[in-house]
This record gives sequence, C-alpha cells and structure tokens, in this order.
Amino acid sequence: MSAAKTDSFPYTSIVLTGGSSGIGKSFLKHMENQYPNVRICNLSRRSPEGFSAQLKLRHITTDLSDSTSRQASIAKVLDFLLSDESAGSILLINNAGLGSYGEFHKSNAAKQREVIEVNLNAVIDLTSALLPLLEERGGVVMNIASVTAFQPTPYIATYGATKAFLLQWGYSLGHELKDTGVRILTVCPGSTDTAFHSRAGMAIRGPLSRFAQTPDQVVKEAMQALASGKSHVVTGWSNKIMTKFSTFLPSGLVTRMSGSVLSHLRADRS
Ligand SMILES: NC(=O)c1ccc[n+]([C@@H]2O[C@H](COP(=O)([O-])OP(=O)(O)OC[C@H]3O[C@@H](n4cnc5c(N)ncnc54)[C@H](OP(=O)(O)O)[C@@H]3O)[C@@H](O)[C@H]2O)c1
Repeated sequence: MSAAKTDSFPYTSIVLTGGSSGIGKSFLKHMENQYPNVRICNLSRRSPEGFSAQLKLRHITTDLSDSTSRQASIAKVLDFLLSDESAGSILLINNAGLGSYGEFHKSNAAKQREVIEVNLNAVIDLTSALLPLLEERGGVVMNIASVTAFQPTPYIATYGATKAFLLQWGYSLGHELKDTGVRILTVCPGSTDTAFHSRAGMAIRGPLSRFAQTPDQVVKEAMQALASGKSHVVTGWSNKIMTKFSTFLPSGLVTRMSGSVLSHLRADRS
C-alpha cells in the first residue's frame, strides 16, 4: 500500500535528523499517532527506541559531524525517497543539533567545529542533495533553529550563531524558491525540556526553566506552522515576547542581558 496522503498533510515521505531523542523523538511520536502510514527515514547515531512496528521507520546510523558518514547516508536517503512509489511530497526536518557551553577562548576548536558540522554543514549537505527531488515532487524543508537566532549568545556563541545562520538562510532560500513547490519553514524553540542542555554542559535555571516547553509542545506548534504555510515560527508565548523585544533593543544592551542570563547556566557551577 502506498503511503498516506491527505489534503492537510500532503507528504508521503519524511526525512528527519535527530529522531533518537528530544524534539526529534517527539516528531516521530507525532507521526506515529497522526500519520502512521507515512514513510519516515531517520538519521542519527542512535536508533530511535520505543516505536511500534506499524511505524514505517527506516533508521540510518549516521554521524552528522563527519562528512564521509553524511555522504554515505545521503545516498541511502535518496534511495529511500526514490523507492516511494507514490512519488508524493517530501518533508525534510533538519532537527539534529548540539551546543557547547563555555567561553570560546577557553574552549576546544574541535568541539566548535563539531557544532558547525552538525548544526550547519549537515543541513546544507542534506538540503542541497534533496532539493532537486523536492522541486520535482513539492515539499517543505523545516529547519529547527532556536530563539538564540535573534540575539548574541555569550557562552554559547558558536551555537547561537549557527541558529542565526539557519534563520537568515531559511528566509533567503524561501525567497529563491518562491516560484517552485518548495517552502522553507524555520522553527525557533526556546528552552525545551530535553537532554540538549546536559549534553552541552549547561543546566537550565531561573526564568529559563520556568518557561521551558516540552518537546511535544514544540512539535505541536511546528506542525501548526507547517499546516498554515508559515515561513518561520517562534514557539511558546514567552519566547515570542522575548524575541520581539530583543529585535527592538540596542545590540549592546541585548548582549549584556543575554550574557547575564547565560552566565548562570554552567552545569558544574559550584
Ligand atoms: N532543547 C532546547 O532547549 C532547544 C532549544 C532551541 C532549539 N533546540 C534545537 O532542537 C534540536 C533538537 O535538540 P533537542 O533539544 O531535541 O536535543 P537532544 O535531545 O540532545 O537531541 C539532539 C538530537 O540530535 C542528534 N545528533 C546530535 N549530534 C549528532 C551527530 N553528530 N550525528 C547525528 N545526530 C546527532 C542526536 O542523535 P544521536 O545522539 O543519537 O546521534 C539527537 O537525536 C537541535 O537542533 C537544538 O539545537 C533545542
């Protein structure tokens, strides 16, 4: 039987990165509940656990920080998409990402490059390889950025800059692709209750923990933005207010405010 397709959800194949935990795992849960017949291909190092055999999930073990591993997986992703007999629309969700907490001048350059490889180079490689098929069949590229895209982020400087790149890049690509059947959607969550912070050497404290969203809430808002044809969405009302404010305030003031909040988030703070 070919994959499910409805007017509100025209995609027959989904390519997701980072489905093994957090927000990516919530995307898989959402698909399992709402669109169990859609074919999904996941790229991460660990396999997503806890899904029913009914979910049409293909996992490709990939280290997205490694260009050789990425290229080998991209070839398999293209095979996966070409084997979709219905040749329906494609949804690419570039979700995998990581951060690294600490002052840049005290950090390891290899770790900073890893952040750039996964958060940016993997997105560029995957999007570039899949775009010809997306243009042929129609589809959406959904990039998971962050509220850090809207302001300087001392102590996670490289991470924040990768997300600012994704936001601006998404707007530009969306413009270039406006006469094709391909749309770009940039999703900007704020603090979300996942393993992200502990893996980045951070602990969420104070207002950031009070206003944290669950990954399911982020996915719900991302899917609503997808259905309503938006080009970007900031999830969570407190994040919407915060990002609006930061775009109006002088950059020096925003940097000091952001630096003050982020300086308290070191995981091993005594
Ligand atoms: N949590 C937040 O507060 C927050 C806020 C704003 C934006 N975001 C963004 O949301 C996205 C998802 O993060 P999350 O919060 O769900 O964190 P998470 O629970 O740590 O999940 C990150 C995912 O990325 C994958 N990944 C990381 N490095 C990888 C690599 N080298 N190769 C392949 N896959 C890799 C992980 O898979 P494996 O470990 O199995 O490889 C995992 O599935 C990220 O882009 C993050 O920047 C998160």
